[in-house]
Amino acid sequence: MRAIAVSEVGATPTLMNLPTPAPGPGEILVKVVAAGINPFDWKIVDGALKDSVPYSFPLIMGVDGAGVVEAAGEGVTDLRAGEQVYGQFFGVPRGLGSYAEYAIAKADGPVARMPQGMIYTQAAAVPTATMTAYNAVRLANVDEGQTVLVVGATGGVGQSVVQLAGATGAKVIATARADMAEEMRELGAAEVVDYAAGDLNEQVLRAHADGIDAILDVVSDKTGVERLAALLRPGGVYLSTIWSVNPDAMAAQELRGVNMDSEASAELLETIAGLIDAGKLKVHVHHEVALEDVPAEIMRMRAGGARGKTVIRV
Ligand SMILES: NC(=O)c1ccc[n+]([C@@H]2O[C@H](COP(=O)([O-])OP(=O)(O)OC[C@H]3O[C@@H](n4cnc5c(N)ncnc54)[C@H](OP(=O)(O)O)[C@@H]3O)[C@@H](O)[C@H]2O)c1
Repeated sequence: MRAIAVSEVGATPTLMNLPTPAPGPGEILVKVVAAGINPFDWKIVDGALKDSVPYSFPLIMGVDGAGVVEAAGEGVTDLRAGEQVYGQFFGVPRGLGSYAEYAIAKADGPVARMPQGMIYTQAAAVPTATMTAYNAVRLANVDEGQTVLVVGATGGVGQSVVQLAGATGAKVIATARADMAEEMRELGAAEVVDYAAGDLNEQVLRAHADGIDAILDVVSDKTGVERLAALLRPGGVYLSTIWSVNPDAMAAQELRGVNMDSEASAELLETIAGLIDAGKLKVHVHHEVALEDVPAEIMRMRAGGARGKTVIRV
C-alpha cells in the first residue's frame, strides 16, 4: 500500500510502498479515505514520544483518519466491514499511522461511526483538534459571562475552542492575522486581536482595562505565557496545550495554571459529531492535499501559518 513514512527519527517524510497491515484481536483494518494533519504528527517524527513509546521503522505518519472498515479482527463485534468510521489510528510501536491507504484502529479506542451528514474529509479533520478543544474548554471551566482570550485561534484546535467557548455564553477574544479576522467573527468571536499588528496585551487591555477571566493558548512559549498572564484577573485560569504554564508561579499570582493532555474516546467523538450534525460546531477544512504531495505540505506547515485544518485525500 502507499503510505507517507519516515525511515528514522528526524528523517524526511517520503512516499513509500509498504505491506498492508492485518488487524489483530480487538482491532479493525480501515481503508483510509482521508487523513487529518496535526502538528503532533511531525513532533512524533522529531522524536517527541521516543522516551515513552517504542518506535518501529519505517514509521507511517499520522493519527487522525476517516474511512471504511475493511476487516474486523477476532473479538470485534460492534464494527463490521463496510461501515464508515473516523477517529485516531495511533500505531507508532508497529510503525503504523493514518497517512496510508490502510490503517489499524483499536475497536474499543477513539473510533466512532461517521454520522450520515459527514463527509470523509471533514471527519478526518475532527478527532485530535476538536477533542482537544472540547477538553480545553471543559478543563478551563469556561462559563457564561466570562471574557476568554484564545491564543492561536486560527488553527485546528483554536477554531473549535472559539466556537465551544462562545457556546457557553462567554465573550471570546480571538487572535488572528488580518486575513482570518472575519472568519473568527463568523465562528463566534466577539473581538479579534492581531498579534502581528501590535502588542497583544495592549490590544486586549484597551477594551478590558480590568483584565479577563481565562486564556486558552495553543502557541505561546513560557515567556509568552508569563507576559500574557498579566491580563488575567485574580482567580483567572491560564491553559496551555503545549505545556508552557508554570502552575506554581500561577498559583503565587492567585491564578490557576493548566498544562493539558487531551483525552480521546469514541464517546467524545460521538458528542462532537452530534454538535456538528446539529449545526452547533463547524470544522473548517481550508486545504486538501493528495498523498504524494504530503512531504512538501509538511515542510510548508512546519513553518506555521495554519488556517483551520489541512486534510489528505488518500
Ligand atoms: N496537549 C495536547 O493534548 C494537545 C492536543 C492537540 C494539539 N496540541 C498542540 O497544540 C498546538 C496547536 O495545535 P493546532 O492543531 O491548533 O495547530 P495549528 O493548526 O498549526 O494552529 C496554530 C495556529 O496558531 C497561529 N499562531 C502561530 N503563532 C501565533 C501567535 N504567536 N499568536 C497567535 N496565533 C499564532 C497560527 O497561524 P499564524 O502562524 O498565521 O499566526 C495557526 O493558525 C500544537 O503545538 C499541537 O501539537 C496539544
